[in-house]
Amino acid sequence: MTVLLSRQQIAEAVARLAPEIRQDYTPALGPGSGGPRVKAGAGEELLVLGVLRGAFVFMADLVRALNMPLTVDFVRVSTYGGGTVTNRKPRIVQGPRTSVLGRRVLVVEDIVDTGITSAFLVDYLKRKGAASVKLCALLSKPSRREADVEVNYLGFTIADLFVVGYGLDYAQQYRYLPDICVLETK
Ligand code: PRP
Repeated sequence: MTVLLSRQQIAEAVARLAPEIRQDYTPALGPGSGGPRVKAGAGEELLVLGVLRGAFVFMADLVRALNMPLTVDFVRVSTYGGGTVTNRKPRIVQGPRTSVLGRRVLVVEDIVDTGITSAFLVDYLKRKGAASVKLCALLSKPSRREADVEVNYLGFTIADLFVVGYGLDYAQQYRYLPDICVLETK
């Protein structure tokens, strides 16, 4: 197994993304105001929605780096069938327990591969009445894309390699690795 992205590189990506996200979700201050940030009212905070299971490690680091008022929830999406958009049918099998109606939602993914899961989820959340839906992914494999999805905040673009660690698995193994590694299958 070889390291593709070290824990240090991952930490740098988190440290780069968090201020960008924080800035986008912080209400603008009035002209000339040097005062404190406007505090969001109850239910108006950013809802950070992690996609189980792979996103749990990235999500844990990201919310701590964000260090701003937010609500955390999780969703589990199951996809049946393989291959193309037309025969893969994603569905929500768990959560979110929080109502997304009128909420600003940031979906957190470990990886966007074909994009089928993320595209489905973004559409689902919009249909459920979310005020806005954005997507943050640590990894993206654009060469594998089948569904049209915009990754608003991205850690790394990677080649079509089988990667494990930092939440990503192979047959439920290796999620605990601190680095993102390439699994040699031969
Ligand atoms: C992975 C990953 C994304 C999805 C991306 O989840 O966490 O949710 O696949 O693939 P896509 O872009 O081709 O839809 P997986 O189904 O492996 O479950 P896991 O997160 O529990 O490992």
